[in-house]
Amino acid sequence: MSATRHDKIQHHYDSIADVYDHHYDHHRGRRYHTHISSQLMRPLPRGGRLLDIGCGTGLFVEKFIRNGGTAVGLDISGKMISRAHHRCPTSEFIVGTGEKIPFCDNSFEAVASLLAFSYVKDPQAMLSESLRVLKPGGILSICTLGKKLLTRGIPAIYQIGEMMKIKHVVMKNFGEHYYDKDEMTSLFTEAGFSDVEVSWCSFAHIDMIDPLFNFAQKVEPFVEKRVPQLAYNICVSGRKPRE
Ligand SMILES: C[S@@+](CC[C@H](N)C(=O)[O-])C[C@H]1O[C@@H](n2cnc3c(N)ncnc32)[C@H](O)[C@@H]1O
Repeated sequence: MSATRHDKIQHHYDSIADVYDHHYDHHRGRRYHTHISSQLMRPLPRGGRLLDIGCGTGLFVEKFIRNGGTAVGLDISGKMISRAHHRCPTSEFIVGTGEKIPFCDNSFEAVASLLAFSYVKDPQAMLSESLRVLKPGGILSICTLGKKLLTRGIPAIYQIGEMMKIKHVVMKNFGEHYYDKDEMTSLFTEAGFSDVEVSWCSFAHIDMIDPLFNFAQKVEPFVEKRVPQLAYNICVSGRKPRE
């Protein structure tokens, strides 16, 4: 990751770490995060040791360990890591990037990453590193904003938000990359993962007004299954082959 881009993301998340959770404190936020977390969780083993890349304030780590596993959180923002530590005092949290994971080979049964992959400058490095730290048969699961009709305008909205100095937890222009199904499948396959599966989730968006959110939530299962062109988060999983 180039120094400036890395620093901009890190400074941003350091500066909003104390208010990040407010984004998910109301019913729309809670429901949205619970929904994407359950999609991320689906291919993962229940139990075992998990690495969460871009763990933020530990929201997913908390959900994973509730099912009986142990987890380590990794994030480039020291302030987000402090909040995560506060939330899950028995888990381990480390400052670092997913592109150079500070763990030995074959250390985890599972690696997950929620809403962080679009920030990563070198996605191939993150996937190769995830494969390296997974035990044979281990699972990588990623959920991130995908390249879709509804997300095409986001970079422009973030640029305007940044110019107008709008204070919003994600409204900053970081040159994020959104992926489609073919790109994600190639990235996973080229890194050496097998059993690669791709699905789409999320139609109800946290920033919608209540009546629209409630309607979108109702039709979300139908959209995800039958009209995935309208769902905006892409969920991808793959297995490290057993030797
Ligand atoms: C939108 S937040 C998501 C946090 C958390 N996963 C959640 O679901 O609430 C994105 C997080 O990814 C982290 N991040 C961005 N690039 C990263 C990288 N290359 N390696 C590790 N963490 C990264 C940011 O610091 C931030 O905490």
